[in-house]
Amino acid sequence: MKPTNIHPVFHQILTRADKEKFLNQRACVIWMTGLSGSGKTTIARNIELELNRRGHLTQVLDGDNIRTGINNNLGFTEEDRIENIRRIAEVSKLFVHCGIICINSFISPTREIRNMARNIIGEEDFIEVHINAPLEVCEQRDVKGLYKKAREGKIKNFTGIDAPFETPEKPAIELKTGELSIPQCVEQAMEVLGPRVSYVGDE
Ligand code: ADX
Repeated sequence: MKPTNIHPVFHQILTRADKEKFLNQRACVIWMTGLSGSGKTTIARNIELELNRRGHLTQVLDGDNIRTGINNNLGFTEEDRIENIRRIAEVSKLFVHCGIICINSFISPTREIRNMARNIIGEEDFIEVHINAPLEVCEQRDVKGLYKKAREGKIKNFTGIDAPFETPEKPAIELKTGELSIPQCVEQAMEVLGPRVSYVGDE
């Protein structure tokens, strides 16, 4: 039964356009996908710093943080990863509607999962960034010691070891973190992101 005590107030609510004008920027989701240890979080932080330096308001959402809060009931089965990304995509959409540039760093390992995120957020606002470092490089770095545990069988369904990572087919940006320095990666990303987030006014 539909509630009768709900009175929509859309005419009083500021629109996304109002908020983008207020913030002097165009919102979007910068969606970083890649293996664990590929550098997603590092690049996200550095892109955030550069965008802030240029006067933009941003929000970083990151697998390790989100999974200790809103998604602390989810694991790493395919089903849970889908739900993880579905919620993240919905949250990102809220930020975008608030005019904020959302920088997401999630493994988001399959094309199906990333397509779901793209569909929720909307093609126009979804900028796919492949943080591309070979598995050997990520495993060599093993910042969190998780690859070692996965090889020992102590962690199941680990991406790249016994769970798949499907390479993005046509990412808007590809950053080879195994070959380029962090500043070089940020510079490369900003060539696309800079114009994308600049405010263009009411056209
Ligand atoms: S996703 O696949 O659902 O997109 P997400 O980015 O949220 O993954 O979380 C990945 C992080 O969780 C990794 O960086 C790693 O620290 C941790 N992790 C723990 N178990 C796993 C696992 N089985 N596979 C991948 N990452 C894992």
